[in-house]
Amino acid sequence: MHVRPWLLATLTATVLTACADPADDGATTGDDRGTDTAEEAGTASTSGTSDAGDSDTGSTGEPVDGYPADVLDHLDLPWPPYDYDPELPEHWQTPGVGALDNMPAGNPTTDAGATLGRVLFYDTVLSANETIACATCHAQADGFSDPDQFSTGFDGGLTGRNSMGLSDARFYANGHFFWDERADTLEDQVLMPIQNEVEMGLTLEELEARVQAQPYYPALFEQAFGDDTIDSDRIARALAQYVRAIVSYRAPYDVGIAATGNPGAPFPNYSAQENEGKAIFFGPAGRCAPCHVGQPGPPPPPGAPLLNTAVFLMTAPANNGLDAGPTADEGVGDVTGDPMQAGLFKSPSLRNIELTAPYMHDGRFDTLEEVVEHYDNGVQPHPNLDPRLRTPGDQPQQLNLTDPQKAALVAFLRTLTDEALIADERFVDPFSK
Ligand code: HEC
Ligand code: HEC
Repeated sequence: MHVRPWLLATLTATVLTACADPADDGATTGDDRGTDTAEEAGTASTSGTSDAGDSDTGSTGEPVDGYPADVLDHLDLPWPPYDYDPELPEHWQTPGVGALDNMPAGNPTTDAGATLGRVLFYDTVLSANETIACATCHAQADGFSDPDQFSTGFDGGLTGRNSMGLSDARFYANGHFFWDERADTLEDQVLMPIQNEVEMGLTLEELEARVQAQPYYPALFEQAFGDDTIDSDRIARALAQYVRAIVSYRAPYDVGIAATGNPGAPFPNYSAQENEGKAIFFGPAGRCAPCHVGQPGPPPPPGAPLLNTAVFLMTAPANNGLDAGPTADEGVGDVTGDPMQAGLFKSPSLRNIELTAPYMHDGRFDTLEEVVEHYDNGVQPHPNLDPRLRTPGDQPQQLNLTDPQKAALVAFLRTLTDEALIADERFVDPFSK
């Protein structure tokens, strides 16, 4: 957990009033809260913070220790907030994985910031007619994606592409978002669905007014950012913190790699079929890992140990041969205008892929079996087809896997399902009241 200014202020107040051990703060009752708040206001004014003007009311001098009734009347939130930056297993704490992290120095994830982001993520007031939230199209049970091929926006319109699963979005090194990478940062991305005409349909001014009008937000902004100013920049920062906190690190795959330290070794917790599928995924029979387990820096020489064995994300968009030539959706090429980038797309993480069907930017494949068929014998000779999907003679690859091998590959992909994340209470709908 990071130490935040408001927490320091709270601790200072606690010392001044000679209260119990700060470790007891979690048990603070509603009655105590009023006392702390008054002390807090005094502390704030002597230390010259922006809250000084509020101190005369004695009741608005947040930050408070615990949530006020304005929050608790609407939201089911724990105090103290959940830990949104927990210690990750060893295979996540490597320089190689660190190099893939897109968390900017200016917006580190804090528990209070991600808590605010969680509320925003589930809040339908972020859409024009208050019917749609981010979570409508990014459902936790579906790996933070949408089981429909195209998602339905606030006014019944359909999105142009399939919703993307959000697992481990934090570890996409180049930091661009969407299938076509049109958002330069996650902080930019999260405001785009809100302003999208089909998805949520608000202007940024409307968004700010909407959020300002809800009684539960001032205290949440105060705790996240030190004062209760509500603007679209802070909304973006909180949403980005929440999305970055959606880290999938508790799948059967993680148990196996923790036990062996090596994706090439048989995992003791895997069935023979799952181990066979893993060997296909990482090895020459399937060759999936060079794209979907991206490595930081220049491509490692063959046989070199992987610098990243945790993150199942690509490092750059690619063309995977879905179509032989131009289509209505040219992905990155439409954004950059570069013909060499026509037909290139980013893929979301393969973690929780079992839950995020249908697949590809246009949701064309309903099942993982269909995806495997595509790589086995369906790769099309697109001019920009990635070299990793070509034969030495420059033709589209044909893996020619046997049926048992295909089934094994799918079985391996299912070991990337992280039930702990899908059930994690830190990410459930807080509007349960
Ligand atoms: C109506 C459905 C819908 C809503 C509402 C919605 N999204 Fe999405 N989301 C999508 C679709 C579809 C895509 C892919 C769009 C594209 O690439 O053009 C996407 C892509 C994303 C991505 C990119 C992931 C990546 O790896 O590049 C993120 C992050 C995201 N959404 C977060 C959010 C947040 C935060 C909200 C709420 C502010 C939200 N979405 C609201 C449907 C939706
Ligand atoms: C050249 C790099 C490359 C290789 C090699 C590759 N893929 Fe992909 N994969 C991609 C790209 C790019 C996409 C997104 C394409 C799109 O939607 O247009 C993708 C998409 C996927 C998806 C769908 C993701 C989603 O959220 O819809 C799955 C599943 C998948 N690949 C599995 C595999 C498997 C299994 C293999 C090995 C047999 C493999 N890939 C090999 C680049 C690659």
